[in-house]
Amino acid sequence: MNSTPSSSDPTPPEGAHGDAAQAHPDFGHIRSFVHRRSHITAGQQEALDLLMPKWAVPYRNAPLKFEQVFGRQAPTVLEIGFGMGETTEKIALARPDDNFLGVEVFNSGVGSMLKRIEASQLQNLRIIQHDAVEVVRDMIAPDSLAGVHIYFPDPWPKKRHHKRRLVQPPFVQLLASRLRPGGYIHCATDWEHYAHQMLEVLGGEPLLENTSEGFAPRPDFRPLTKFENRGLRLGHGVWDLIFRREGQ
Ligand SMILES: C[S@@+](CC[C@H](N)C(=O)[O-])C[C@H]1O[C@@H](n2cnc3c(N)ncnc32)[C@H](O)[C@@H]1O
Repeated sequence: MNSTPSSSDPTPPEGAHGDAAQAHPDFGHIRSFVHRRSHITAGQQEALDLLMPKWAVPYRNAPLKFEQVFGRQAPTVLEIGFGMGETTEKIALARPDDNFLGVEVFNSGVGSMLKRIEASQLQNLRIIQHDAVEVVRDMIAPDSLAGVHIYFPDPWPKKRHHKRRLVQPPFVQLLASRLRPGGYIHCATDWEHYAHQMLEVLGGEPLLENTSEGFAPRPDFRPLTKFENRGLRLGHGVWDLIFRREGQ
């Protein structure tokens, strides 16, 4: 889903998966998103045309040197699936001493994020338009990240689609290996079933330890999203999880 920040209606069009599910030969994962045409505004398209070279890093099968990408040495946080980018922009503005690398697949979100970066001239935010699983596997060196943010990932609520959820043991193992000792993974979801899956998967990864007993309070640096505010008014829950890689 890519047109609104809500994760409440992500069900893909019927027929868009099943046989078409693409597994990686050397990783075995099924993609957590489905390619489909989405509405894109003229402004987003213009941003894609003009601003990609300025603020985006192309996917390639080689580890990134963060110092070169950001032009400085600073803790680097990876965000997976930034959607339209409003949360990412707020966090990057509020934490100028950290670098943020946002990964998203859909054109409308990437266009929207590029517009935000250009408007705010955010020097500490860069983006990659590609499947985050491949980005982490191929472009992020082991022991290099200060943190990982995964906010409201597509919940894939139907049981037969649970295999598409991003937070699965092999990917979490890969992510944990990319964190530096003491680095954190912060997830948030408004789907209770997925929240419990996250707790189980993150809790089952030997490199990680939970910073709370179970779910964590929302940290001040994660702003409430519009849809979260609406959901909270309607009595829906939101679950945050913060795990740290052992050592320091
Ligand atoms: C439900 S939206 C949430 C967006 C945003 N984090 C928020 O809280 O508003 C999930 C986003 O993750 C993106 N996504 C899903 N799987 C991805 C992957 N493997 N790599 C990169 N982005 C992905 C989708 O395109 C979608 O925009």
